[in-house]
Amino acid sequence: MTRLSKQVDDPAFLSWAKPTADTPEHIKEGAIRAIRDGLVGGYSVNTGIPALREQIVRKLERDNSIPADPAEIMTTVGAVEGLTSTVMALIDPGDEVILPSPTYATHVLQVRLASGVPVFVPAIEEEGFAFDFDAFRAAITPRTKAVMLCTPNNPTGTVFAEPELRRLAEVALENDLMIITDEAYEYFTYDGEKHFSIASIPEIRKKVVSCFTFTKTYAMTGWRIGYLHADASLIPQIGKAHIACSICPPVVSQYAALAALTGSQDCIAEFREHYRSARDILCARLDRLGSVFDYQKPTGSYLMFPRILVDEGRDSMGFCKKLLHEARVSTTPGIAFGPTGENHLRLSFCVPEAEIHKAFDRLEAYFDRADAG
Ligand SMILES: Cc1ncc(COP(=O)(O)O)c(C=O)c1O
Repeated sequence: MTRLSKQVDDPAFLSWAKPTADTPEHIKEGAIRAIRDGLVGGYSVNTGIPALREQIVRKLERDNSIPADPAEIMTTVGAVEGLTSTVMALIDPGDEVILPSPTYATHVLQVRLASGVPVFVPAIEEEGFAFDFDAFRAAITPRTKAVMLCTPNNPTGTVFAEPELRRLAEVALENDLMIITDEAYEYFTYDGEKHFSIASIPEIRKKVVSCFTFTKTYAMTGWRIGYLHADASLIPQIGKAHIACSICPPVVSQYAALAALTGSQDCIAEFREHYRSARDILCARLDRLGSVFDYQKPTGSYLMFPRILVDEGRDSMGFCKKLLHEARVSTTPGIAFGPTGENHLRLSFCVPEAEIHKAFDRLEAYFDRADAG
């Protein structure tokens, strides 16, 4: 949609899932200092500079209740490289990986890249895209190796609750499954919802690889820096893929990440408040188009996944192209997020509030015209 949107004059853009804010100044300063001090011209150790891994350990203990050791941390090229390296290490050809559907499209690519088989378990939309445990149990076969999920979720904005994740951990333990988590939106939860890290459950800890990133938390998309936590015995295995992909994440970005963890954390609350307010505006505007869209109110991330009620929504790709060309509004088709994504759109609220109004003024005019026609 980003590419197609270039064909359209001044589109209203609700299709990107990247923060529009710039990286905070003190983080940039940390990187500039490291450049000036001559620290960034070489490789670091593959797992990342020790000072950064020590700060990550502190953060995991403080914010995720995961007791950690630097030997259990690997810094990665964003969450995405951590997830890819993990899947390459854990999944053999033909192994099945259970994914709640809809889910982040890149997870599906990662499983396929490792010649694994993605097995989609539809989430229960009416319950806010909750995990369907009956369907999950029914999907487990002798070839099932892992479950892979993101919470808070892209594309639905669902925050899987602690009791749900504890239940998931029990089923995984009973069936000897690994759990791979993508916690990219860990700090962006609303309405009293709390992010819960499944690796904080002592009984399942060794079976979980938890992937995190600086991308969303500190608006650092382009720095390409993230990290994962796994049992120390898994780190060298994941390292085989990590080294083959990247040797180490960009060293300048490791210093920027160090400045992010040791400096002011104010930007997180500011971003969260902006997203919550933008979410409320987006939902209010969707309410005014109640004959076209139905939706589950997101309590996390900065994304939501409304259902399209009009007939043409059955082909979400065709519908999105039509909205782009005829209403000049860029959205993402639900089919991009797995088979149960059809009939939906993904909308992003990590945009300025004016962009939401611009998009919905155009959508209202478009659907008024369609009604009149
Ligand atoms: C769920 C999820 N995971 C990971 C990423 C990408 O993270 P990174 O930039 O750290 O690779 C995104 C980006 O949109 C995302 O939505």
